[in-house]
Order: sequence, then C-alpha cells, then structure tokens
Amino acid sequence: MFRLSINPKSHKGHINPELQGHFAEHLGRGIYEGLYVKEDAGIENVNGMRKDVIEALKELQVPVLRWPGGCFADEYHWKDGIGPKEGRKKMINTHWGGVVEDNSFGTHEFMELCDQISCKNYVNGNLGSGTVQEMSEWVEYMTFDGVSPMADLRKKNGHEKPWKVDYFGVGNENWGCGGNMLPDMYANLYRRYQTYVRDYKQDEHVNKVCCGANAEDFTWTEEVMKTCFKAPVHLHGFMDGLSLHYYTVPGTWEHKGSATDFDEKEYYKTLKKTLFMETLIKGHAAIMDRYDKDHKVGMVIDEWGTWYDVEPGTNPGFLYQQNTIRDALVAGINLNLFNKHCDRVKMANIAQMINVLQSVILTDGQKMIKTPTYHVFNMYKYHQNAELLDSFIETQEIGLEDEYKVPNLTESVSLGTDGKIHVTITNLSCSESYEIEAAVADTEVKEISGQVVGGEMHLHNTFEEPENVVAKAFDAVENLGNGKLKFTIPASSVIHLALSI
Ligand code: AHR
Repeated sequence: MFRLSINPKSHKGHINPELQGHFAEHLGRGIYEGLYVKEDAGIENVNGMRKDVIEALKELQVPVLRWPGGCFADEYHWKDGIGPKEGRKKMINTHWGGVVEDNSFGTHEFMELCDQISCKNYVNGNLGSGTVQEMSEWVEYMTFDGVSPMADLRKKNGHEKPWKVDYFGVGNENWGCGGNMLPDMYANLYRRYQTYVRDYKQDEHVNKVCCGANAEDFTWTEEVMKTCFKAPVHLHGFMDGLSLHYYTVPGTWEHKGSATDFDEKEYYKTLKKTLFMETLIKGHAAIMDRYDKDHKVGMVIDEWGTWYDVEPGTNPGFLYQQNTIRDALVAGINLNLFNKHCDRVKMANIAQMINVLQSVILTDGQKMIKTPTYHVFNMYKYHQNAELLDSFIETQEIGLEDEYKVPNLTESVSLGTDGKIHVTITNLSCSESYEIEAAVADTEVKEISGQVVGGEMHLHNTFEEPENVVAKAFDAVENLGNGKLKFTIPASSVIHLALSI
C-alpha cells in the first residue's frame, strides 16, 4: 500500500493554464491537412480550419499555441505569408522534407486558428536569418492600431483591427538550426532584437521569450542570463520567458526506436528519460534564480515530448509517429512535473499538436483520431488556473536493470477553479497495480469522480480502431471518511480524481 498525503491548506503556487500549451510548426502534415485544408479537399472546414479537429481541440481547452516553428521559424519571412493567396511566394521547406511551402497559411490564418480554438497565441520570430527590421515590422503589422506602413498593410489585407500578441519568441534553437550561435552572440542579439518588439498599447504587453537551452546545456543558460542581465537593460518586460527544449528519445538520435514496437526495457528507458525533465527544470531554475530572484522570467518549455523513428513508409522529414499508452505515461509524468514546478515553469508546449511527434491528434485525409496523449491532456485540463497543493506520495523503485529504474508512481494535486481537489497519478509499472491510501488533511470528501487512461503498454488508436484507448470512468474509490480514500491504480495508467469537499 502506498500513501498519498494532501494538505489542502498549503498552496504552493498558481498553475498557469499555459503549462498545457501546444506547438504547431510548418512541418509535414502538422499545419497543412492537420489543421488547415484547401477548399477542394472535401474536408469540412470554416475558413480553411478543419471542423473535426477544432472541435476536439476546443474540448481540451488548449491555452496557447506556438507557431510557425521550430527550425522553420528562423527561415520564415512573414511577408511571404500575407496578402492574396495566389500572389504568395512559394519556398522550399529545407528543414522538413524539402517540400514546397506555398505560404497559404500565414499570420492571418494563424490568428484565425487561435480564434477558433479560443487560445492565446505565441508567435516565434526569425532571428537566425531575419533582420531586426523584419521582426519589428511583424510586431507592428500585428499589433499597431494607428496609421503606419505596417498597420496600413494589415488593413489592406482585410484586418482592420490589430491583434493582441500574447507571446513572441525571439528566435528558436539559436544554438542549432537557428544560426549555430554561441551563447554570448545570441544573448547580445537578443538584447538588440527584443528592443524593437514593442508594446504599441500600454495595457497589452507582448511577452518576450528568449531562446534557452537544449536539454542539459547549463552553460547556455548561464551565459545567456549573464549577458542579458547586464545593466543597462531594464528587467520588466525585457525578458518574460526563457525557453528550454527537451525531447524523450528512447534510443540514439540515429536510431530513436519505434513508436509501437518496443520491449519492457525500452518502455522503462523511455520513462526514465522522461523523468530527466525534473533534473533539467531544477538545474536551469537554479541558474535563473541567481539572476532573477523574483521569478519574473518564466521557464518556457516550448518543445517537449517523445521523438521516435517515423512510421515505416512515411516521409522521414515529416516526423509522423504513432502514440501508445507509453506516450500517455510520458504526458502524465511531464504534466505532473510542470505542476510541481509551477513557481518557475510558466508555459510548456507539447511537440507537436497534430501529425508530428507526440501529437494529440492524428489525421488521414478526412479521418481523425485522438491519441492516448489527447485523453491525458483532457483529464489534466482541470489543473489549468488551479492552485497547486502540497502533496506527497510514497513510491518504490521499479524497472528492469539498474540503469532503467524509475519510481512506480508520480502525482500532482491542485485546488481547481471549480472548488474541487484534482488529483492526477501515473502508474509507471507495466505489470503491477498498486493500492493507494490517500489522506486529505482535515477535510471531509463528499463526492468523488474519476477517470483513467491505461492498458497494455503498446495499446494505441488506429484509423480502423479509433477507440482502443479512451478515458474510462474510474469509480472503484472507497471513501473511508475523515478525508481518507482507498483505491487501486491499474498497471501503466494515468488517473484523475475530482474530489468535492
Ligand atoms: O519539433 C521538431 C524540431 O525539433 C523543431 O523544429 C526544432 O525546434 C527542434 O529541434
């Protein structure tokens, strides 16, 4: 038996809804087909956005969407994607499959997409191959309400009123595909470029995200913070976020491993690598703390998720992969970690929303399926805007060999905006279920409802069998009185309990 203790009186921080954010890049079938379709594609849509997908995303309460990349962002020239579609420039998407990008999805379409999903926008600018002027004009085009060349151009293109830009990324992976820079060079460029990412309205701040590290590259964080925090730069609004990218790759970058064909060893190895996220959060946060004691700069984990070999027979540049119960665990573990570190982690964006890497939705022409990861996000949505509660769960080490040992359970608990306590727990064991006794201090639990996503570790949805994995009711919870509950969490599963108090 494992004990879970919850102290509803001890609030540990606010859980930004953005911790459950998404990322959609011009990559493979992520945007084109996944989200945006041509009028003659025979897929029901509203202004090009596919209806089935939008409906499914709305159910998730997607808080924020990052676009247009990724590596694509530092090769993207926004002016190619505005104005009449027939006149838009075509380009080669050099990073992703060398396919022709016709720029039919640009700024106006992205804003329309966010509107339809009802989510915030996170636009990633081009520092790698774009000019300061280009970046500055993009912000002017999107947000300026007066008379100016860019505002006039926007109006000419059919959008009278400016948009509000919620987040703006000043480059992406500038240590790699975004220019192969050294931290000092990037940091100096960040200081310069961000100067021209202006707030045209006093009460509408564009939150600026600085390019942070790749995984455990702590030197990058140290050097970037050091250079950026040198006077005479004003802290407020100069850097609102520092990004971090970390992918769970079970094998090596050359042989990552299959999304569906893996053994127990690879299963535990995947989860072990996912848990490394906590070491990264703590390590980068410790460096940030030295420069930003008041936590004004949020950690923005704007790319995370599993990365496997592409599905056999698909374009290697399209990064299309299936999604199993193992991915559900990866999602649950990460989302629990983000909650637990919500004092520093202010946004996280799963890579990527549709048809690319660890997606919540897969499409095949007119067909659409929800992945196990989708169902986990749908259960965790109750944590959005909630207050993290002090909680602790007893665990034991499980796994196969020393190298692949993991704790059997992870959890996070919050007090939701609905007044209920929301408990999410992952059981990492692919063979054992565990009895859990939960104690909510000084509280009577009046009602309990629960859901579970789980099953055999390889289980996944296909276009032929779209409901192999769904969230099922989890009602075998005994209420022992005095805030005590007893239940058994099944092997390889993620559960959500909502406790009315
Ligand atoms: O998500 C796929 C790619 O991974 C992104 O374009 C890049 O930022 C990262 O390396």
